[in-house]
Amino acid sequence: MASVEDIGIDLGSSNVIIAERGKGVVLSEPAVLAVNHDTRNIISIGTEAYQMWGRQPSGVAMVRPLQKGSIQDFDMLSIMLNYFVMRVVGKHLFNRPRALMSVSATSNEIEKRQLILRMLEAGARRTQLIERPLAAALGAGVPINDVTGRMVVDIGGATTDIAVISSGEIMARSILGTAGDTFTDELIRYVRLKHNLLIGWRTAEDLKSAIGTADIQEQNTLSLPAAGRNLVSGLPRQADITSLECAEAAEEPLHALIEGLHSVIERIPAELANDVFDDGILLTGGGARLRSLREVIQREMQIPVFVAEHPQDCIALGCALVLERPSEYARVLGESRRGR
Ligand SMILES: Nc1ncnc2c1ncn2[C@@H]1O[C@H](COP(=O)(O)OP(=O)(O)OP(=O)(O)O)[C@@H](O)[C@H]1O
Ligand SMILES: [Mg+2]
Repeated sequence: MASVEDIGIDLGSSNVIIAERGKGVVLSEPAVLAVNHDTRNIISIGTEAYQMWGRQPSGVAMVRPLQKGSIQDFDMLSIMLNYFVMRVVGKHLFNRPRALMSVSATSNEIEKRQLILRMLEAGARRTQLIERPLAAALGAGVPINDVTGRMVVDIGGATTDIAVISSGEIMARSILGTAGDTFTDELIRYVRLKHNLLIGWRTAEDLKSAIGTADIQEQNTLSLPAAGRNLVSGLPRQADITSLECAEAAEEPLHALIEGLHSVIERIPAELANDVFDDGILLTGGGARLRSLREVIQREMQIPVFVAEHPQDCIALGCALVLERPSEYARVLGESRRGR
């Protein structure tokens, strides 16, 4: 009988990603639920719900249980987590996997304990938590147990987690509220001010992923029509949005990111800072997929910058790796448990 291996879970504000030990990513879905506004009955979860986003009938609310780095709706978060985990492990109730999960850095003790309980109900035998930067680094292939200082920057939807890691420990860390969602919000604001056009979140996300860029100096300009509502007439209208406009909209969040990186580097001992200057900065998370982000940060900071191969999957993959080699990474788990 096929059995489910231990699982690593990245419970993010935009996406939930689950990786199985030795198999890689087995589930990747948007962290969203479509819910009946009045009864709170769940209509759909994940990809199915995301497809409705912006087109949902009146009376249906789209709920993102994690937002702005904190848990907005604990009940919905538990239902969503339970549903995803059951999908992966549900058919193997006699072979309950262990789980390692990375949750938002700002969730509190009670919330963490309840999430662990939910995992138990969903079929996990035992659930441990891990700090996000450690999982992100491991998933990107960084040998975190080295003494060399490594800077890892996970740019998610709601938060950017900046950390310098050495000897398996987080030596310096800063969590910014500027991340992928900020770029989307700024694009919506920009289009509203410049074109008098109110575009929806989905439209802005699609624009950002298709033509968005961080580089204001980019030579080739791309453009895409975006549909929204004219703020003067109130009627539906389309406007062509260019990649240069996306870059202009991205300027402020980009600036905040670079400042955040500077402030962490300024705080670490000179030896670690030297390591970072030599080895560079590693970007993970979906936000790292913004075109030219790597190049712009490198140009501004004069430090080499790399993007992990599958930036959005790194945390889940890192969790799965720890489960694969528990003795090598016992310290990572020990640290995170003691820290809580
Ligand atoms: N091709 C792309 N270009 C630009 N941004 C992208 C691209 N693909 C994904 N993103 C952005 O990545 C972000 C989501 O990344 P990720 O899945 O790592 O977040 P998360 O882990 O769910 O959030 P968090 O870590 O903050 O809780 C979103 O803001 C999304 O718009
Ligand atoms: Mg994340």
